[in-house]
Amino acid sequence: MSNFNKYSRYYDLLYKDKNYTSEAEYVLNLAKNYNKECNKFLELGCGTGNHAAVLCNKGFSVVGLERSEEMVALAKQKNISNFNPQVADITNFNINEKFDVALSLFHVISYLTDNEQLINCFNTVHQHLNINGIFIFDVWYSPAVYIQKPETRVKRISDEQIDVTRIAESTIHYNKNVVDVNYTIFIQDKATKITEVHHETHPMRHFSINEIKMLADFIGFDFVKAEEFLTANKTSENTWGVCMVLRKK
Ligand SMILES: C[S@@+](CC[C@H](N)C(=O)[O-])C[C@H]1O[C@@H](n2cnc3c(N)ncnc32)[C@H](O)[C@@H]1O
Repeated sequence: MSNFNKYSRYYDLLYKDKNYTSEAEYVLNLAKNYNKECNKFLELGCGTGNHAAVLCNKGFSVVGLERSEEMVALAKQKNISNFNPQVADITNFNINEKFDVALSLFHVISYLTDNEQLINCFNTVHQHLNINGIFIFDVWYSPAVYIQKPETRVKRISDEQIDVTRIAESTIHYNKNVVDVNYTIFIQDKATKITEVHHETHPMRHFSINEIKMLADFIGFDFVKAEEFLTANKTSENTWGVCMVLRKK
């Protein structure tokens, strides 16, 4: 069951300042560095299609898999050419096609909190990649989570019709490498002043590099690199989002 239900209606508004263009260009450069052949992209957890829009605009084709029907409906409304968003679970899918690059951006893999889900997802991605195909994903990084600890955060954002206030409060489950992010979202209609309140919990798993290396090896990927997402800096306890690059053997 998706935890992006009501939330998805406000998703693009909440992340309107996120720089999807530079993120998509960053992953495209990474993919091209490690695979000369990169035309066909598979995007896991494609959300409302914001990264795919940038890639398709550059002439690439993207199949997007996304569990939330509402997110897929929003992605389809954007009418992005060469983008095919589909409702699917990234831990269990079968499309009769192989890809040069698999992407999973904005912590989607961190939503796979148990080992079986992770193994199923990595195995299935492996089956859908060509030899030397690249798998790029960003996840929460354990050293940063343990040292910095997630703080309570408040985000406020508006458009012409609504004011949205989102409070994020976290609970850490040390033995599972999981943090529950509990969102309370207030949506006030500017004209009527009526306020809706939504609650969603997003359990997020964080990873060490060795954990991903072990998983990669077990499934049949070479571990290519880990770096801070977007800056390409060396990972440290200050790196909340780490980008991992694997290549199918
Ligand atoms: C933080 S959002 C990122 C969306 C998009 N990649 C972006 O950058 O805007 C995480 C997304 O992962 C999706 N997701 C989480 N678990 C999933 C699963 N098992 N199968 C498919 N999608 C999943 C959620 O529905 C949500 O759209």
